Amino acid sequence: MPLRHLVNLSDLSQAEFKGLLERATELKAQRTGHEPLKNKVLAMLFEKSSTRTRISFETGMIQLGGAAIFLSPRDTQLGRGEPIEDSARVISRMVDCIMLRTHEHRTVELFAQHSSVPVINGLTDQSHPCQLLADMQTYFEHRGDIRGKTVAWIGDGNNMCHSYLEAASLLDFTLKIACPPSYEPDQQFMDKADGRGVLMHDPKAAAEGADLVVTDVWASMGQEEEQSRRELAFRGFEVDDQLMSRAAQDALFMHCLPAHRGEEVSASVLEGPQSVVWDEAENRLHAQKALLEFLLIEDHPLREH
Ligand code: CP
Ligand code: NVA
Repeated sequence: MPLRHLVNLSDLSQAEFKGLLERATELKAQRTGHEPLKNKVLAMLFEKSSTRTRISFETGMIQLGGAAIFLSPRDTQLGRGEPIEDSARVISRMVDCIMLRTHEHRTVELFAQHSSVPVINGLTDQSHPCQLLADMQTYFEHRGDIRGKTVAWIGDGNNMCHSYLEAASLLDFTLKIACPPSYEPDQQFMDKADGRGVLMHDPKAAAEGADLVVTDVWASMGQEEEQSRRELAFRGFEVDDQLMSRAAQDALFMHCLPAHRGEEVSASVLEGPQSVVWDEAENRLHAQKALLEFLLIEDHPLREH
């Protein structure tokens, strides 16, 4: 069985992506009692903080019959400069899967190149594919297929925005992106979206008629010292009730969390009837269980190669 990784969403075909979403919903109904990953071990390497990613992967592995090892840079020789290539070769000789959350995207790519087991991107400066599995599962559960719908991305053209652009291409929806000038997503991800990403600078125009409104923090992990500069640049980009009223009547609101109430989203929207952020957070668990099965089970029926 060829080795598969999830470094970016585009590592999946459209059918695989949709199949994973369906499987995630099945696993959500089933919860426990299904242990196909008995004795399998996931190593989780975190260079940045995490609540959802760590807990969902660790819980997911336990529920599937396996185990997970949490490693911060202080816990491994990576933090003392052991080369990524060597670390990938050594760690992958002992465990069955490796999940990494890193600053540089290149670190995950290098790990995948040198690992003999599947590597999962648990967030890099460039993308956050696991979050998109959960977001899309949440949309499908609440509203059905997202094909042909319009999603408004309000805020920074960051790692989440990049993964939304990849999802737009795979699941065939339009992504209207409103960001302040010089906070646009990378052109390579706009290109990947194949015309489905529409760039603008006015949040009201992006929200108009949208089926889903999504935002994220203005300063991502690693950009803390830019906080005050970004607060100025993103003035007028808060998703509040007024902005939501421009979206479709049955529009949903999502945020990968953690959220800053009163900055990128008002408390009333985050806690309001259109917000599905708690389902979205829970679905990290179910979506990643589907992903772990997909990457680790021999001859998994969803795998196209
Ligand atoms: N959304 C997300 O990835 O959350 P954590 O940073 O808590 O893992
Ligand atoms: N864009 C955010 C996402 C956090 C889950 C960050 O990178 O900090």
